[in-house]
Amino acid sequence: MRIIAITNQKGGCGKTTTSVNLAASLATNGRKVLLIDIDPQAHASLGLNIKSSLSIYNVLSKIAHQRAKLEDIIQNIGPDFDIAPSSIILSTLEQELAGEIGRESRLWDTLSNLKGVYDYVLIDCPPNLGILTINAIRAANEVIIPVEASRFSLEGMDQLISIVNLVRDRLNHTVSVRVLVTNFDSRLAHSFKMLEKIKVDFKDKLFSNIIHVNVRLKEAQNQGTHIFNYDKYSRGAKDYFSLSREIITLEDGSKAPLKPEKELKITVKPAAALEKKMNEILKKELPKLTEVKFSILAPEAKDVYVAGEFNNWKLEDATRMTKSNGNGTWSKALSLSNGKYRYRFVIDGNWVEDSSNPLKEVNPYGSVDSLIEISAKK
Ligand SMILES: Nc1ncnc2c1ncn2[C@@H]1O[C@H](COP(=O)(O)OP(=O)(O)O)[C@@H](O)[C@H]1O
Ligand SMILES: [Mg+2]
Repeated sequence: MRIIAITNQKGGCGKTTTSVNLAASLATNGRKVLLIDIDPQAHASLGLNIKSSLSIYNVLSKIAHQRAKLEDIIQNIGPDFDIAPSSIILSTLEQELAGEIGRESRLWDTLSNLKGVYDYVLIDCPPNLGILTINAIRAANEVIIPVEASRFSLEGMDQLISIVNLVRDRLNHTVSVRVLVTNFDSRLAHSFKMLEKIKVDFKDKLFSNIIHVNVRLKEAQNQGTHIFNYDKYSRGAKDYFSLSREIITLEDGSKAPLKPEKELKITVKPAAALEKKMNEILKKELPKLTEVKFSILAPEAKDVYVAGEFNNWKLEDATRMTKSNGNGTWSKALSLSNGKYRYRFVIDGNWVEDSSNPLKEVNPYGSVDSLIEISAKK
C-alpha cells in the first residue's frame, strides 16, 4: 500500500485539486484508492459533495462525542475510489493532542490496521505545518509537494523539507519526496523561466508531468465532483491521468524506485526567522522521542496491550500490540520522551510483567511493574 501525503504549507498551490483528481485517476487505472482529507477546511470533502456527520475527527480524537473507526467514516465516491472526509471540528485536534503521547503518530496508528485493502492512500493536508501535517508525513511513505510555477519560493520549500527531516530524525521515519509543478500557465514566459529554475533545484525529484492551468479543474470542484466525471477530455483530466501513469510506473518492482528524500538538494539556507520557527517546532511540536519496541511471547493470546505510565495505564488502540505471523510474539513500537516509566502487558485482560526485562519494581498493590528508562541520546 502506497501512502502519499500531498502537502505544502502554502494555500492555493493545488494540494486539494491534486489529491482529488490524482485519486480519481489512479482509480480509473484500476487501483483501489482511499483519499483522506485531514484539512479542517474540508475542501476535498466539499469538492466531492460529501456531507457527513462523521469525519476523520471522530477517528483521530479520543474525546470525540462519538468515536469511530476509519472504516465507519469511509464513503464511496465511485469505482475503486473512497474518501475519509474531514470537518471543521478537526481544527480542535491540534489543541487536544498537545501533550499527548504519540500525537504525531495517530494517523499512522490508524492506517496500520488498514493494510492490504487499498493500493493507494492519498492524504490531503492543511495549509500549515502543524500536528496534522506532521501526522500525515509520519503516516506516509511518499510526499508530493505541489508548487505553482508562478509563485514558487525556495524558502517555503526549505521549511517543509525541514519538517520532513525532523520526522526522519525524531521519529526515525523516512519518506521520499517529489515535487509537482501545478497551475502552469504556458501563455506566460515567466512560467517557463520558473520551471527551468525548479528543474535545476529539484532535478530528478521533479515529476516529468506538470499540471497546466485549466479552468475545468476549478469548475469540477465547484460542481462537487472530480475532473473525470466533469470533463474527461479536458487538459486537466489529461494532465492528472499522465501524472497517475508516472506514479504507477514507480510501483514496486519498477526500474525507477523513488530515492530517499535526503538526496533532495536544497540550496538555500533557512533564513533566521525560519530557523527560529523550526526550533520552536522542535521544542513544542516534537519532544525528543525514542522509539522503543515492546514485545512478549503469547502464542495463545487473542488481544494484547502494553500499558504504563506513558499512557496513564490505558488500554487503547495506540498501545495495542500486533502478533507476528511466525512464533506468537506480540510487539508494539512506541515513541516515548525521555524518562522512567512503569509498564505491564495485558494479555486477554490479565496484567503481567515483562518477564524478559530484569528491571522491575513492586507497586503499591503488591504486584510487580516492569521498568524502562529512556535517556537523551542526542
Ligand atoms: N491546474 C489548475 N487550473 C485551474 N485552477 C486550479 C488548478 N489547480 C487548482 N486550481 C484552483 O485553485 C484553487 C486552489 O486550489 P486547491 O487545490 O484548493 O489548493 P490548496 O488545496 O493547495 O489550497 C481552487 O479554486 C482550485 O480549483
Ligand atoms: Mg486544500
